[in-house]
Amino acid sequence: MQDKKDLIIESTTLWDFPRQNYGKTAHGDNKYNGVTPAFIIWNLLQRYTEEGDLVVDPMCGSGTTIDVAKELKRKVIGFDLNIVRNDVIKNDSRNIPLKDNSADFVFIDSPYSNNITYSNDERCIGKISCESIKFYDELEKVIVEIARILKPNKVMSWVIADQWIKKKFTATGFLLWQRLEKYFEPMDIVCITRHNQTSNTSLWHNRARRFNFYLRGFKYLFIMKKNK
Ligand SMILES: C[S@@+](CC[C@H](N)C(=O)[O-])C[C@H]1O[C@@H](n2cnc3c(N)ncnc32)[C@H](O)[C@@H]1O
Repeated sequence: MQDKKDLIIESTTLWDFPRQNYGKTAHGDNKYNGVTPAFIIWNLLQRYTEEGDLVVDPMCGSGTTIDVAKELKRKVIGFDLNIVRNDVIKNDSRNIPLKDNSADFVFIDSPYSNNITYSNDERCIGKISCESIKFYDELEKVIVEIARILKPNKVMSWVIADQWIKKKFTATGFLLWQRLEKYFEPMDIVCITRHNQTSNTSLWHNRARRFNFYLRGFKYLFIMKKNK
């Protein structure tokens, strides 16, 4: 296990974290489907927040953002529709119960499509395929809320990945980026190496070669700023 003292602030736009967690205590639950690598949030909080700042995660799942933010002495509020721990507030992120200009940083790792069943809640955006325009329309409602609650000149960061399924590629990242650009100023795009996804088996690697497609090797981490 990587030790906390080995943590460094990333200096390039390619981040490769071999494990979900760092240190000896859990950050989120690495068994939660779609859990975010804790290093991503650690790196972002180091760069864009200070002690005492309010960090918000509108889709915080198993609470990785809550654990990392608390450890770094940030205030934190985590919402989700699927409640797996009692410090997460049940809420649909298309309507965030916070005041305008109240958050210092927002992190979100949203569903990428309808590839994972997070809950039976019909409001879960993970029930909509990224091949449908509705997916981006619903995520845009979340974007509007993030833009509203974030303080001016503060940063938000969003994790998303493209999709290749049944011989069809969808540039989910680019399609979401187009919506984000309407509300935020671009700062950077980081590629996060993917590990441990279910298709990371020799069977799938051989299929990818034989049938001439690519397995997803990275996710996007979009970093953007609210400029007014
Ligand atoms: C990729 S997971 C987030 C994982 C989380 N960052 C973690 O480390 O555990 C996406 C989350 O979005 C949540 N979600 C989907 N639609 C939502 C909505 N409309 N409002 C709030 N949360 C939603 C799902 O329940 C799921 O937990």
